[in-house]
Amino acid sequence: MNTASPIDCPSWAKLSHHAEGWRDVHLKDLFASDVARSLQFVAEAPGLRYDYSRQRLGAITLRLLANLAAERGFAEWRDALLSGKEINTSEKRAAWHTALRAGPSAPAEVLQTLDRMKGLALKLRSEGKFRRIVNLGTGGSDLGPRLLADAATDGTLDVRFAANVDPRDLERALEGADPASTLFVVVSKTFTTQETMANATAARSWLNGRKHFFAITANETAARKFDAVEILPMWDWVGGRFSVWSAVGFAAACAMGFDRFEEFLAGGREIDAHFAAAPPEKNIPVLMALAGVWNTNFLGCASHAVLPYSNALRLLPAYLQQLEMESNGKRVDRAGRAVGYPTCPVLWGAEGTPSQHSFHQLLHQGTQSVPCDFIDIAADEILSANARAQADALAFGSEDGQYPGNRPSSMLFLDRLDAKNLGRLLALYEHKVFVQGIIWNINSFDQPGVELGKIMARKILSGGK
Ligand code: F6P
Repeated sequence: MNTASPIDCPSWAKLSHHAEGWRDVHLKDLFASDVARSLQFVAEAPGLRYDYSRQRLGAITLRLLANLAAERGFAEWRDALLSGKEINTSEKRAAWHTALRAGPSAPAEVLQTLDRMKGLALKLRSEGKFRRIVNLGTGGSDLGPRLLADAATDGTLDVRFAANVDPRDLERALEGADPASTLFVVVSKTFTTQETMANATAARSWLNGRKHFFAITANETAARKFDAVEILPMWDWVGGRFSVWSAVGFAAACAMGFDRFEEFLAGGREIDAHFAAAPPEKNIPVLMALAGVWNTNFLGCASHAVLPYSNALRLLPAYLQQLEMESNGKRVDRAGRAVGYPTCPVLWGAEGTPSQHSFHQLLHQGTQSVPCDFIDIAADEILSANARAQADALAFGSEDGQYPGNRPSSMLFLDRLDAKNLGRLLALYEHKVFVQGIIWNINSFDQPGVELGKIMARKILSGGK
């Protein structure tokens, strides 16, 4: 497998040279000189259309970027990911989240777990014993199910989340709840995470002797000790930030109904098939990754904004912050060498339209160019008009020069916001992150950088300096 530095690839030097020619090219001139531009830089996948015509690139750029991916061994890495090879080399494990949504061909342990989830979710939703479900977890054990539940709940159960070790978070999640009808789902792969265990311990005293705990974990022994009445597995071949498709999504499945959770999985599966088969110039996650590499490494952009024009997707930027920055926010490559090039840009964002009345000022007239992803749900005319207007204003600016324009963005069009499209959307970003990791020669599946702070906090708590 190719673990050479990308800067040693022939295409890297060609791209650097090619970028020189883009310094003075303006998007408004590109559109004026090529009426077909908005049709050329578009790709489709089931339920989705990706329009990257407002990126500052051309056909040659794209060819060079695709060559770079090929020189980095993209095809081989992709096969290794999809077939469950041990690509997380530092932790000696696979990153096989695609197996969680593989349908009937998923591993037996996945199918058994989905069956158990289904039975439990159906029971909880129909029986009426529990009215409140509180998910206790953090990072990947919180952000995915939280996003999904927020976007797709049908209101049958009141599903809440607490992630912060600050007791106020759990207090809020329990406002108005009755211990007799409240179930906690403790989600922790390790079952040792300080925040989650502190919240679980506080929940136990609040329950006053009731054993209303389910656990989702790879540490069954610890969950048994905690008196969890149901324990659903996590596997070491699934990373926390890629785990929403597993039993980690259980609270979300309770909120949205299992049928819709299955639709969510099906959406992810469709994108896996697209990612596996589509040629690079038609492959949406590959194109998203290439546009990002171009902006980051050749046009000098240091951050990236995600702007979902949908209240249901208001938690998407927070979810993607972990997915992208915990995966690719790294300064050493697979061989442990310091990289000599920028890697993951800072990802941020918020739902439109409120974002327009907050930070879009900087997007339009600030001193830095921030590439944006606009997520446009065609079903809502007003939202959609606003998303397109923002993208056009960023790209083309104004005649009087007050708005300079030439600020790159992409549009992801979804025909509607349903569970299947949610699955498609999250799988797209997962694969985008993976492709960028390959290009940057980074292991996207470990997170050594989060450990030091945990160790130091423990030391401070135990009276050390
Ligand atoms: O501290 C980072 C992290 O390890 C994430 O990668 C993970 O999603 C989160 O903590 C929670 O971990 P756990 O599921 O083991 O509690």
